Amino acid sequence: MTVKQIDKVKTPKFIQQIESTLKPMEFLERCVQDYGELFFTNSFGNLETLVVSHPQDLQELFNPTNKILDAPGDANKIFTAHIGENSLMVQDGLRHQRQRQLMMPPFHGEKMLNYGQQICEITQQATQHLKSGETFIARHLSEEITMNIILKVVFGINEELSFAKLKNLMTTWLGLTSSPLSASILLLPSLQKDVGAWSPWGKYIRLRKQIDEQLMAEIVKCRQQQQQSSRFDILSLLVAAKYEDGEAMSDIEVRDNLLTLLNAGHETTANAIAWALYWIHQQPEVYARVLQELQSLNTPDPMKIAGLPYLTAVCQETLRIHPIVFFTFPRITIRSVNLRGYHVASGTYVTPCIYLTHR
Ligand code: HEM
Repeated sequence: MTVKQIDKVKTPKFIQQIESTLKPMEFLERCVQDYGELFFTNSFGNLETLVVSHPQDLQELFNPTNKILDAPGDANKIFTAHIGENSLMVQDGLRHQRQRQLMMPPFHGEKMLNYGQQICEITQQATQHLKSGETFIARHLSEEITMNIILKVVFGINEELSFAKLKNLMTTWLGLTSSPLSASILLLPSLQKDVGAWSPWGKYIRLRKQIDEQLMAEIVKCRQQQQQSSRFDILSLLVAAKYEDGEAMSDIEVRDNLLTLLNAGHETTANAIAWALYWIHQQPEVYARVLQELQSLNTPDPMKIAGLPYLTAVCQETLRIHPIVFFTFPRITIRSVNLRGYHVASGTYVTPCIYLTHR
């Protein structure tokens, strides 16, 4: 069998980075048209990566018995300004596994029941000022909801002053990188120059420092309250959790993982909710069916809401059309592999493209 060669995107690296930042969908769709469903790109920081989207290739790569992929924490280093150097996202191997084991339990089982109740209350508070017939911007509303959830459910902040201060800091900080153009200060190290408090990077790192300080104060407070309080927010569970050797996460590890949950959980869910509202609003028959299904519940029990089949389908279809996060984190091949006749060498960085697969 002849081995087929995988094409590289031919435009210069700099142009690829600009195109993929400003017009990611157009860039990806053009690449598939020009090079097919496997191609090398230079659009991620300094890495040359293989973009994979064919379901058969993904199945081959991710089948655990094949042992083809590793997840190198180094490949996510470009995010350290956002999530800190101790975040589980930039770890690999044993350290990643250890942190992951500590971070998972709060997101499962009975804990979620409690969080579901809080999430319903926060949503009701955020929506109660909406008036029938009045236009509102769905993304502003969903951002308000998800930010309040992070502050209350994840960080466990109930004290009004601290809540308002951290909310203001985090909203301003995340706002600095919320457009594709401004986000390039995170992706392009050449733009990360602190030339004073008014420069984009200067502003960014000063706000991050203030957020760090306030998060540290919350962690210290949480450790002090550990014995006598009945807190069940995610921060309190992280502070109480122990590795297998009986050690707890250090304060800096906890802080960086709080930043990680903020960055991973706020805008992603806010955008997903906004898109869901968009599609439901666009299609009156979908709206009517969602409403009918919700009204069939006598009480708004969050676990029952989460189990509704039609609503689940609407959420899944929304995430299929708009995957929110276009790529998984980069992986690296630890042995060579043949993908539909194409040879992929050992040591190749691979970035599965969720967007292209869904489309
Ligand atoms: C619509 C919402 C969301 C989407 C589309 C999304 C998508 C993703 C994707 C694609 C990854 C990379 C997975 C990989 O490469 O293996 C990821 C990782 C991660 N996400 Fe989410 N996510 C969402 C919501 C959340 C929320 C609400 C949280 C927590 C509050 C969260 C926490 C994380 C963490 C901690 C990781 C890193 C896991 C690890 O390194 O082991 N995500 N997410």
